[in-house]
Amino acid sequence: MKVISTEHSQVLATRVARALGVGLVEVKFSRFPDGEHYLQAGELDDETIIIGSVTDNEALVQLLLLIDACDSSRCRLVIPYMAYARQDKRFKQGEPLSARAVARALSSGVADVTTINIHDPSVLQYFSVPSRNISVASDIGAYLRTLDLDNPLILAPDDGALSFAQGIAAACGWECDYLEKTRISGTEVLMSPKELLAASRSVVIVDDIISTGGTIATASRMLYHQDAREVYAACVHGVFTSGAYARLMASSIRDVICCDTIERACSRVSAAGQIADVIRHP
Ligand code: R5P
Repeated sequence: MKVISTEHSQVLATRVARALGVGLVEVKFSRFPDGEHYLQAGELDDETIIIGSVTDNEALVQLLLLIDACDSSRCRLVIPYMAYARQDKRFKQGEPLSARAVARALSSGVADVTTINIHDPSVLQYFSVPSRNISVASDIGAYLRTLDLDNPLILAPDDGALSFAQGIAAACGWECDYLEKTRISGTEVLMSPKELLAASRSVVIVDDIISTGGTIATASRMLYHQDAREVYAACVHGVFTSGAYARLMASSIRDVICCDTIERACSRVSAAGQIADVIRHP
């Protein structure tokens, strides 16, 4: 068995290969003069684990080319982060089911697919090969425990993220709740924990994705108004569009933590252990 990855997942792929005790396939990546992607894989194994986050359109094309280069019936695909997964419904007439389009394209040429905390696991139905979704909630929880927080509280930004938050809280042994929105007026919305109080507590807001950072920024402002001692943010996929990470760090949020499903300087939690487990025990 060998592990191979796109440019976007090379650090995570190295960690997975080390966890499995197998080699990495070297890949040369370049572009044709017109901008088209080119790649050339080194010596492949019959059984290849392909790791590639779809962070944007370029990453998607590179992953499609890599799957084709592997060209074996024993390729297993890991998609740590899958862009387009949030467009999983037709909200308006004439829209595509983008999640389905991407899942179908990535199913071709692989034996199975593993995703990590995909936005909605119902997207798995669109892969035409066996697929599964794994969670790094316990790994995030294990990391948060090392922060030595005072009277900590894990908060989901809405009830949809509650089960993810509960997984993190269970690993920490901390209390958990979600933020409920109450409309105060036509323009004002209050967000506060459904059952518990944030006052004097170290609150960690946890979500699957931080994209613009808007959800976290609003929640954090509300929590400081409710006298939270300090607010942290943790997510699986740090998309951080348009400078979101810097914006959040410049606010009163103490720290922003993400996983290496998208490789960032603040990727302090690795999905490698969970991926290696799935590969070992298909
Ligand atoms: C949405 O349903 C997701 O779970 C996240 O809450 C959302 O993607 C966060 O987006 P943003 O950072 O742009 O508020």
